[in-house]
Amino acid sequence: MDPEAAVLSANRLWPWDRTRRHDLLEDIMKQALLELLICPHCRPQESPLQVSIQAARQDDIITGSLSCPLCQKVYPIADGIAFLTPQQHIPQATNRYEMPAVVASYLWSHYGDLLGDDMATDAYQQWAGLMRPSLGNCLDGGCAVGRFAFEMAKKFDLVVGLDNSVAFIRTARELMAKRRLDLLLPEEGKLQRPVTLTLPPDWPTLNLDFIVADAQALPFRAKSFSGLASLNMVDKLPDPLAHLSEINRVAKPSGAQFLFSDPFSWSTDVAPETAWLGGTESGPFAGRAQTNIIDLLEGKKGCLEPCWQVESHGPIWWKIRTHCNHYEMIRSCFIKAKR
Ligand SMILES: C[S@@+](CC[C@H](N)C(=O)[O-])C[C@H]1O[C@@H](n2cnc3c(N)ncnc32)[C@H](O)[C@@H]1O
Repeated sequence: MDPEAAVLSANRLWPWDRTRRHDLLEDIMKQALLELLICPHCRPQESPLQVSIQAARQDDIITGSLSCPLCQKVYPIADGIAFLTPQQHIPQATNRYEMPAVVASYLWSHYGDLLGDDMATDAYQQWAGLMRPSLGNCLDGGCAVGRFAFEMAKKFDLVVGLDNSVAFIRTARELMAKRRLDLLLPEEGKLQRPVTLTLPPDWPTLNLDFIVADAQALPFRAKSFSGLASLNMVDKLPDPLAHLSEINRVAKPSGAQFLFSDPFSWSTDVAPETAWLGGTESGPFAGRAQTNIIDLLEGKKGCLEPCWQVESHGPIWWKIRTHCNHYEMIRSCFIKAKR
C-alpha cells in the first residue's frame, strides 16, 4: 500500500485533512447518498452509519467501512464498492448473476442500442419514458449493469442503483467512472467478439451511485425517494412482499413515482409458493400477479400505506442475448403508480 495512504478515520481528521477525506469519500460514494444510509440490520429503526476510510490511490483500490453505532455491525467498502447487505455478503458461486457470461448478456440487453445492434430492443427507453423528471432521489432496485439508473440520472437529482450481484455493481461502477467499457460478446461456443461500449457525452454520471445491498432490506431512511423502480426482479426474490414493503417504506408519502415491471416467472427454486404474489390457485395472492400488485398498491390488500394511484399498466417486450444465435424474449408487465 502507498505509504502516503493514511488510514483516515472520519472522526479523527485534522481540519487540513478534511478536503482529502472529502475527495476519498467522493471516490467511494456521494456525500448525499451517505446521508440517506442507515443500518439495514437495525431498520426500520434509523441508525446512521459512520464512515471510516482507508485508501490506496496508487493501486486504485479504495477501501474502508461503514459501521453502525447501535448494533456494531461493520459494512465493508472494497475496491470502491459499499457492501450493505444485513448479513455478511458472500457472493454465491451458484448465483448466475455473478457469472461473466451473464454479465455480458445483461450488458448487451441494457446497452445493445448504444452498440448499434439491430437486434437490440428499446425496452429501457420505454421504461425510462414512463418516469417524469422530478426533484429528489431515485432508487433503481435490482439495477444489474445500470441502464435504467443511467437513464434516471437525466431526470432526478441523485440516483442510486442497488443490486446484490457484485459482478453487476462492479461493471456498472466501471461504466460510471470511465464512461466506456470493453467487453466480450459471446458469439458461438468459445468464440467471443470484442466491442467497446461508450456512454453518450450528454449522459450525466456525477449524480449517480451504485451499491451492493438486498432489495428486501433497503439500507435507507424512510421517505427518502421521489422515484423508485423495481424492474424484472420481484420473481427472483425469496420474499417479494418484503421488497414491496421496503419500497413503500423508503418512498416519499406524497410526490413519489413507482415503476414496477416483471414477467412473473414464479419458481419454488427461488421462493416458496406461499410467498408468490400471483400464479397460485389459493391464498391471499391467488390469481394473476399484475392484478394483485395493483390491488396491493391501491391499498385493497391493506399492507402498503399511504396507498398509490395506478397511472398506467401494460406489457414491455424485453430481450436477453445468450449468443449471436440465441435470444430470450420476455414480456414484462409494467405498473406505473404515483402518490
Ligand atoms: C432479471 S434481473 C433484472 C435486472 C434489471 N432490473 C433489468 O430489468 O434489466 C434481476 C436482478 O435482480 C438482482 N437481485 C436478485 N436478488 C436480489 C436481492 N435480494 N437484492 C438485490 N438485487 C437482487 C439480480 O442480481 C439481477 O440484477
